[in-house]
Amino acid sequence: MPEEVVLIKFGGSLITNKSKVCSERIDIIDKLAKICVNITSLNKKLIIVHGAGSFGHIKAKELKIFEGKIISIYEKQILGIEKIRSDMLSLNEKIIDMMLKYKLKPETYIPHLEGKGSGMNYVFSNKIDEIIKSNKIPVIYGDVVDIDGDKEFGILSGDDICEILCKRLKISHVIFAIDGADGIIDNPNSKSGGKLIKQFSSHHPVVVNKLEFDVTGGMNLKIKRGVNCFRQGSRVSIINGNNTEMILKAVMGVEYLGTEFI
Ligand code: IPE
Repeated sequence: MPEEVVLIKFGGSLITNKSKVCSERIDIIDKLAKICVNITSLNKKLIIVHGAGSFGHIKAKELKIFEGKIISIYEKQILGIEKIRSDMLSLNEKIIDMMLKYKLKPETYIPHLEGKGSGMNYVFSNKIDEIIKSNKIPVIYGDVVDIDGDKEFGILSGDDICEILCKRLKISHVIFAIDGADGIIDNPNSKSGGKLIKQFSSHHPVVVNKLEFDVTGGMNLKIKRGVNCFRQGSRVSIINGNNTEMILKAVMGVEYLGTEFI
């Protein structure tokens, strides 16, 4: 097995049209799959995590899935969860099909079928170890998962998955491929749009974009998870995923446009 493990999180806003329900950005998925080919040919092991974007957030927000069971809308929530889970599987299938088109060998780990616990409490089943030990590229995604207790269900974000995997495995480099910015922006609410922070340390103050709403916490959560992955010993980068060549540059260890955690 190659020594270096690169984990890339494809942000949901990158791979989907966020305001249009269940609409994927197939051109971006195509470019990302091509970059996966480049990375594997550098003899690095890849793990892919993807977000939900418009395949998950819209319905999850509408039905307050992140709050768990709400008696007054419980029936709607149960139907909604079924729909989100099947929509997420269809988004995952589009990514898998694209990877297969480029002769990659992906294998999906389905969070709600395999494990339970929301957020950082999610517990993976052994299936993840089996996929990792095989020659395949594990593909995991943000999902609605079952939890023990009265809440019954909750959300597992792809960003949580990144941190959980960093604690479980030795991951050399975590890359958050995002949309709409080249990395962490110092003040996204300013008139000028703010400046890119090229090197980010955990004590750096962060201003969150007021326009962002996301059931899993958006950029704030990504930064928190990124800091924790970094503390586990991984290199961490946040890169504009529309610029796929920057992902490759980061993996190769050459200068790239984006944010590197220090
Ligand atoms: C969210 O996963 C999962 C659901 C809402 C079902 P993520 O938090 O990883 O998704 P994105 O990247 O923000 O879209």
